[in-house]
Amino acid sequence: MGILDKHAVLEKNVTLLAVFAFLVVTIGGIVQIAPLFWLENTIEDVEGMRPYSPLELTGRDIYLREGCYVCHSQMIRPMRDEVERYGHYSLAAESKYDHPFQWGSKRTGPDLARVGGRYSDEWHVDHLRSPQSVVPESVMPKYGFLENRMIEPEHIEELLATHALVGVPYSDEMIENAKADFKVQVDPFGDTDGLLERYPNAQVRNFDGQAGISEADALIAYLQMLGTLVDFSTFTPDASR
Ligand code: HEC
Repeated sequence: MGILDKHAVLEKNVTLLAVFAFLVVTIGGIVQIAPLFWLENTIEDVEGMRPYSPLELTGRDIYLREGCYVCHSQMIRPMRDEVERYGHYSLAAESKYDHPFQWGSKRTGPDLARVGGRYSDEWHVDHLRSPQSVVPESVMPKYGFLENRMIEPEHIEELLATHALVGVPYSDEMIENAKADFKVQVDPFGDTDGLLERYPNAQVRNFDGQAGISEADALIAYLQMLGTLVDFSTFTPDASR
């Protein structure tokens, strides 16, 4: 009986076929996935990535709360059309401090992985108030209420500590200074040395242009940071990884 005849047995028995198909898929899956748990370089280290500042992290929480991820992805695929539109494809390291990650699965609006610095803060304020005022055909909902909701960094230490618990390298010093860092990031006249040492390249200014710290401040600080941490002029992809 040739090998093909043996295979015919499989083809004629649904249960046997299912069992063997399951085996093949399992082995294939293990071979592909298992090494990722042991290879140290699954996530290549890139310069510039740092944990989010307390204000940015708060903005990220607002991004989650408002469901921005339902319409926006944060993952630029390494395909030409995407790279030409959005910039360098996303690196794994760029979401390594995201818990949960914000890759998203749907793009009703554009990808936001590198939206930081693309528009001015004023544009974001206008756009959040009324997306249609800057992009008339936009279907994005209005988020103007965010600038009227003032926030106090009440639970910011706990927020950082929780992220530290799942592996984000927030140091005790970062957690201790979280309240001060939160407040000083919107104060261009404040003493920002500590903030900038702990969170290099953090952008400091009054993001929403009005007095006090609003949810819009935090959200815009987060948006303006997205994609700006890694310096791509110094990054060379290592094909051997
Ligand atoms: C119902 C889907 C929807 C939701 C929810 C949504 N957006 Fe959008 N967004 C869009 C669409 C569509 C566009 C493109 C038109 C425009 O610029 O308004 C867009 C554009 C944007 C842009 C400009 C991107 C670019 O590169 O031009 C930003 C920034 C943005 N959205 C942020 C947000 C934030 C922050 C939230 C949550 C507070 C949010 N969006 C929620 C649909 C959505």
